[in-house]
Amino acid sequence: MWDSLLGAGTGAFALHAAKHCQKVYAVDVSATMLDYCRTKGETAGLRNIVYCHGGFLTYEHDAAPVDAIVSIFVLHHLPDFWKLVGLKRAAEMLKPDGRLFLCDIVFPSETANLEAEFDTWVTSIAKLSGPELAAEAETHIRDEYSTYDWVMARLLARAGFVIESAEYSGRFQATYVCAKSRP
Ligand SMILES: C[S@@+](CC[C@H](N)C(=O)[O-])C[C@H]1O[C@@H](n2cnc3c(N)ncnc32)[C@H](O)[C@@H]1O
Repeated sequence: MWDSLLGAGTGAFALHAAKHCQKVYAVDVSATMLDYCRTKGETAGLRNIVYCHGGFLTYEHDAAPVDAIVSIFVLHHLPDFWKLVGLKRAAEMLKPDGRLFLCDIVFPSETANLEAEFDTWVTSIAKLSGPELAAEAETHIRDEYSTYDWVMARLLARAGFVIESAEYSGRFQATYVCAKSRP
């Protein structure tokens, strides 16, 4: 199995995936993150990770299409216009029967009082994980590009994916497993 990680970050999942896959492409726009990931992978003696400096919008996958693409807490870095471009590019990297596993902060459109939900979310993070992470959650709501659940569903469909499962948990966390739609 060949796996591609868009937004590999410090490599927690890349290292795990490398123990189960033939080859893993760890892709990240941040050279610093990628260096960190490479150091961890090399220290762990993993030789099947290819470290790629690039992102949803720039990474050129010059190898065979992959079985799976995993992206965890990354897509919110892109405004919706660019999310669609990035997701279409991801679909092109996948084998016809490949899967996209996508996890991110997504806002529920059915919630009557989203502002109150934001307050509860930030307060619960402060209690559980301290003020620094709570401040990060506030920054996320204010400055980043997490979008509504229905927008994500439409973007995935437009990019050529069929959502096989969608799970919403922890207030604003969404996890999608998607197949490529048949042409
Ligand atoms: C919140 S971290 C998550 C890292 C990792 N997926 C994890 O779950 O630990 C977001 C990562 O996405 C990367 N990133 C931001 N924009 C990106 C893009 N357009 N394409 C790929 N990676 C991106 C950042 O450099 C960072 O490493």
